[in-house]
Amino acid sequence: MKKRVAILISGRGSNMTALIEAAEAKDYPAEIVLVVSNRPDAAGLDSARSSGIPTAVIDHKKFGGDRLTFEQALDRELREYRIDLVCLAGFMRLLTPSFVNRWSGRMLNIHPSLLPQFKGLHTHRRALEAGVTRHGATVHFVVPEMDAGPIILQGSVAVHENDTEETLAARVLELEHQIYPRALRAVAQGRTKAR
Ligand code: GAR
Repeated sequence: MKKRVAILISGRGSNMTALIEAAEAKDYPAEIVLVVSNRPDAAGLDSARSSGIPTAVIDHKKFGGDRLTFEQALDRELREYRIDLVCLAGFMRLLTPSFVNRWSGRMLNIHPSLLPQFKGLHTHRRALEAGVTRHGATVHFVVPEMDAGPIILQGSVAVHENDTEETLAARVLELEHQIYPRALRAVAQGRTKAR
């Protein structure tokens, strides 16, 4: 049985599209059955709709600062679609420890750096400032601490001398689109588990 996957987005959704496309393969062990955005204007929603994937918007602004009620609404949606695995793909809301713990070992995130380096925002700019020679992306299980959690897969690229934030970001993004589907495949097949 294929695992039922929800993808959570906040914006462009290019990683979401990479997952949707990978999951179209007959032998892929997961199917994308739901895309949820916390922003009604996320461009990724249109891409999901044009791929025929059901979408839901749970606008965090409507909940004021009430994270608990926001997460209850999210949880309701995930339960309605009988979700097995959740993939965060550019989902820019912090989730509370109780929500994260409920999905322990069943929620993945992609982060644009070689964790544990450069947690948080502006990873490409910070990598250039630090002068690293390699940079990349990480897929990991989500734990309450931000951008931490057992690593499932990483990919790296060389940093070029003339790289700008934009050129480096573009090269890493291409890599993200390769590693996220591979990581989800491994988790869906039970080949990788959070310890
Ligand atoms: C991706 O680069 C992803 O790694 C990053 O946001 C971008 C979303 O792009 N995520 C984070 O920074 C999470 N901390 P996308 O919407 O085109 O997939």
